Amino acid sequence: MSRPLAQARPASASRIEDARFAHESEEEFARLLDFYNVRWQYEPRTFPLRRSDDGRVIEAFSPDFYLSDLDLYIELTTLKQGLVTDKHRKLRQLRALYPDVRIKLLHKRDYLSLLAKYGIGAAHEQEVMGVRDVLITGTEIERRVNELGVEITRDYAGKEPLLVGVLKGVTCFMADLMRHLSLPLSIDFMTISSYEGDRSGAVRIVQDLTENIAGRDVLIVEDIVDTGMTLHHLRLQLEAREPASLRVCALLDKRVRRLVDVRLDYVGFEVPDAFVVGYGLDHFQKFRNLPFIATIGAEALEQQPAEGPAAE
Ligand code: IMP
Repeated sequence: MSRPLAQARPASASRIEDARFAHESEEEFARLLDFYNVRWQYEPRTFPLRRSDDGRVIEAFSPDFYLSDLDLYIELTTLKQGLVTDKHRKLRQLRALYPDVRIKLLHKRDYLSLLAKYGIGAAHEQEVMGVRDVLITGTEIERRVNELGVEITRDYAGKEPLLVGVLKGVTCFMADLMRHLSLPLSIDFMTISSYEGDRSGAVRIVQDLTENIAGRDVLIVEDIVDTGMTLHHLRLQLEAREPASLRVCALLDKRVRRLVDVRLDYVGFEVPDAFVVGYGLDHFQKFRNLPFIATIGAEALEQQPAEGPAAE
């Protein structure tokens, strides 16, 4: 049986823009709910738990979320395990006083693994050793690749482009992008050596295309353009083969580090001056399989390469 509210609360938010979340983790959780179209309200209700003899509320509990479609309250426990005990006690009290109210406590580990599955949030600290911040979530990538697909499909209408992917970082992007292009197209790949200090000599094509590109509409697909030197070299090589047209689509543009002014026709996201991994991008071959783009911590950055030739 619920009693009147202990105190008037501001109208509870049900949109991310309107909510004043106490923790970043709550906002991430709200995004996840939005993604699945689960309607939510943030802290919509305060349940009095204990009253003084004169009727004043001396202990109350405001669950973080109410999911109206599921008639379920959710409390996130991102606190230290020791403090969770107190929440358990409050929940027991709440269930005793309000038996009709359905409430679930989502523990940090459950909640982090839930978010990690979708590439959201601080989950990496627990789930992926070495990763620091998620810069671009899996959902954001999906949305943007879809937009790029629409744009490129429109621009190449009536043509049969050849997508040239630069291995290996482009694998995820290429696989997703080509599925968003409603065009008759071909794909091919190249591997370019990357700079490795005094071991590397000059930049060179480690693995060349199998297709003849003369007279073709070529779209270079790149994972990230940093200084622009790799792309500049590649463009010169491919232009010499006389394609009908040559454009560039890069998932990430680390513009602040540009040394060579290369033209990018399509860009997924601009990223800051930080080393990023995931969604195909690596750090000494690791992290390519992350379904999101993230920065890595100093420890991971300091790790040394395994011996062997570098070909990104
Ligand atoms: P650029 O020649 O300096 O533009 O570098 C391009 C290549 O360097 C990319 O194709 C990547 O293989 C690699 N690269 C540059 N920045 C990053 C990064 O932040 N993470 C992973 N690889 C990167």
